[in-house]
Amino acid sequence: MELDTPATTGNRTPLAGALSGAASPPAAPPPGEASPVSARALAAAGETAELEALIAATGLFQEADPDAAIFTFGNPQEMPLQGLVDALRASAEPRSADWYAYKASDEAPRTFLARSLSQELGVEFEPHDVALTAGAFAAISVAFHLLTDPGDEVVIPKPGWFLYAPVLRQALAVPVEASLDPVTWDIDLDAVDAAITPRTRVVVVNSPHNPTGRVYGPEVWDALADVLERASQRIGRRIYLLSDEPYRRIRFDGTGFASPAAHYPWTLIDYSYGKVLLAPGQRLGYLALSPLMPEADRAALRAATFPVQAALGWVFPEAIMQHSVEALETVGLDVAELEAKRDLLVGALTGWGYDVVRPEGTFYLWAAAPGGDAAAFAAWLAERSVHVLPGGIFGQPAHFRLCLTATRDMIERALPAFEEAATAPWR
Ligand SMILES: Cc1ncc(COP(=O)(O)O)c(C=O)c1O
Repeated sequence: MELDTPATTGNRTPLAGALSGAASPPAAPPPGEASPVSARALAAAGETAELEALIAATGLFQEADPDAAIFTFGNPQEMPLQGLVDALRASAEPRSADWYAYKASDEAPRTFLARSLSQELGVEFEPHDVALTAGAFAAISVAFHLLTDPGDEVVIPKPGWFLYAPVLRQALAVPVEASLDPVTWDIDLDAVDAAITPRTRVVVVNSPHNPTGRVYGPEVWDALADVLERASQRIGRRIYLLSDEPYRRIRFDGTGFASPAAHYPWTLIDYSYGKVLLAPGQRLGYLALSPLMPEADRAALRAATFPVQAALGWVFPEAIMQHSVEALETVGLDVAELEAKRDLLVGALTGWGYDVVRPEGTFYLWAAAPGGDAAAFAAWLAERSVHVLPGGIFGQPAHFRLCLTATRDMIERALPAFEEAATAPWR
């Protein structure tokens, strides 16, 4: 299987290049030839080119190759959770004429979510400050459209989720990377501070963190709040914080969770049910405003949220997902089983000499590729039907990510290949 596409070779990937701030429409036609495609769409396409190549090159599901061991993306490899199926079945049965009417942010789910968020995060959320969205994707997009004007800058973590940048490009905003500490993968507050310019409008943080599995504690948020407060004073306008929390309920070893929404008032939280339900094809999430945010700012953002969601293409969850919110509260993947798979893989890989980050949360495992070239490592494994995600897509070409949603069977089948790959035999 071919993994060594032009998009995955070298460390200046299209993704990384575009992330560095350069306007980059790589698919632009030669001069003189008109394209029907807008510059903004081409810029977003430039950001996703590498992802599309990877999806095309790597198996997402076992059906394509029954022997495949699939560790690439956060997709289910086993039958869906019964609790999810039951909730969807129950919600599909109409109980009123408007059961399947247009759904914006329905009162019942947002009231329920405000209560559950308050309990979970320890600050009192108000129902009208919770907007229901089609997953975290839509919540992130809505947040960027709410907060940025064309040319405004948004600081994103590196490594970090590979779709912040395309969503930003589509919003005509500019992604600016702030590298995490390359050894501990802690948030480097000096790097965040240095990335802030007079055009900065938003800083994005993600905990539990994709791809490293790091979970950041309250002391980090207090320190970040200080940096953002000082930087806001320095540049003369308020910097907002977007806390991307879709893995909030997937944590190991009893690790606690703290949201920056309880530490920095100008925080917006985005959440998705796609991870905890392991059903990313069923879109449900929300964007919530910190109750610590001054009421005038919240009122302004609240008033603009429905128009933005409508204008972006009615990016609300579908009716059945909205009706299911309460029933889904107690449904979730088996975190103990994920933890056991983490232990199995961390133990085996470490024993063979891999440099592995022991994840505290998420369903990912992040490690340095033997030999230092993750694209070559992934290509070698793919020839043996083991599919991993090379880190070039995160701007880290020497690392790779494994998704722990792979089945036990897949893990067992992949272990001999991982053992052999430890000596980088392709070199
Ligand atoms: C860090 C992070 N944020 C946001 C998302 C988007 O989540 P969803 O597709 O459930 O909306 C993902 C999905 O992979 C993610 O890893």
